[in-house]
Amino acid sequence: MNQPQELQNKKTILSAVQPSGILTIGNYLGAIRNWNLLQEQYNCYFCVADLHAITVRQVPAELRKRTYEAFAVYMACGLDPEKNTLFVQSHVPCHAELAWVLNCYTMFGELSRMTQFKDKSARHSENINAGLFTYPALMAADILLYGADYVPVGQDQLQHIELARDVANRFNNLYSDTFVIPEGLLPKAGAKVMSLADPTKKMSKSDENPMAYVSILDPKDVIVKKFKRAVTDSGSEVKRGEDKAGINNLITIYSAFTGKSPEEVEKEFEGQGYGAFKLAVGETVADTLAPVQDKFNALMGDKPYLESLMKKGSEQAYRRASKTLSKVYRKVGFAQVK
Ligand code: TYM
Repeated sequence: MNQPQELQNKKTILSAVQPSGILTIGNYLGAIRNWNLLQEQYNCYFCVADLHAITVRQVPAELRKRTYEAFAVYMACGLDPEKNTLFVQSHVPCHAELAWVLNCYTMFGELSRMTQFKDKSARHSENINAGLFTYPALMAADILLYGADYVPVGQDQLQHIELARDVANRFNNLYSDTFVIPEGLLPKAGAKVMSLADPTKKMSKSDENPMAYVSILDPKDVIVKKFKRAVTDSGSEVKRGEDKAGINNLITIYSAFTGKSPEEVEKEFEGQGYGAFKLAVGETVADTLAPVQDKFNALMGDKPYLESLMKKGSEQAYRRASKTLSKVYRKVGFAQVK
């Protein structure tokens, strides 16, 4: 490969977020913030997974808008388009092409066991489409196209990465070494941020109840209000415990945003009630996100710039992905003419 020496020595990372809603602090803590920390050390590919998003019905104009927004959020959170390859999944046709091939090496039984498929098909019983079912094969394609060694994600995606490993191993065993076997990478804190409305459920950007999640783009007063109203138990001591899912979650969020350990957080709020703690969490989150929002607004004001970066990113991604795809096509026996 014609890569600079420094890239050749670096391990590769790929990850993505679906533009199926405005990105939440779950996406931020579980994924994007961690990407930021990794961008210096690794050769990174980060994409906006719009192909994945249509497994659930989307309003076309909104999907388009959210794709731009997600791209801008990546950069506003600190991802440098000069150091990373930032791109939109549908701009690189290799993803859909490899997904088809991998579909033929992914078993019905494996896909049926995916928790996310079970959850989503229960929530969208009117639209259990084939794409929703084979979604993990597309995700495996995303990862395997770039030879990713690591995939930094939140906890909910580990099962999909496990499946990508199984499919890659199956293919390698059949046709000799083709794919790098990827590993999931969880953040130190915030791998599973829970809903503020029901802390036994994961915080999700597609939740119908906007009080359940905090968006990266929510204004300060909204963020503070959402934390104030966060569901907690009837106690008052800021201390982790069983049956205290709400407080546990708020302590996790505060600790992830401040870098303090949960024990330090408990100490800081000793003798203070839930009210004071919730206010502090809301203000800390809002103050951390304020500069991200300023940067986001500036980027969204310059669409031609964003589009030029999308184009550059997709060309860069295509160069890497097309190499893997043609290797795969050769191995499975497709006739290739120059
Ligand atoms: P998505 O869009 O649901 O979430 C994007 C990333 O955010 C993490 N995440 C969370 N982390 C902590 N707490 C939460 N409440 C929370 N909610 C979401 C997710 O774990 C994920 O890392 N299928 C993927 C997108 C995808 C992808 C890929 C990921 C497509 N292709 C290739 C990695 C590699 C998804 O739906 O993520």
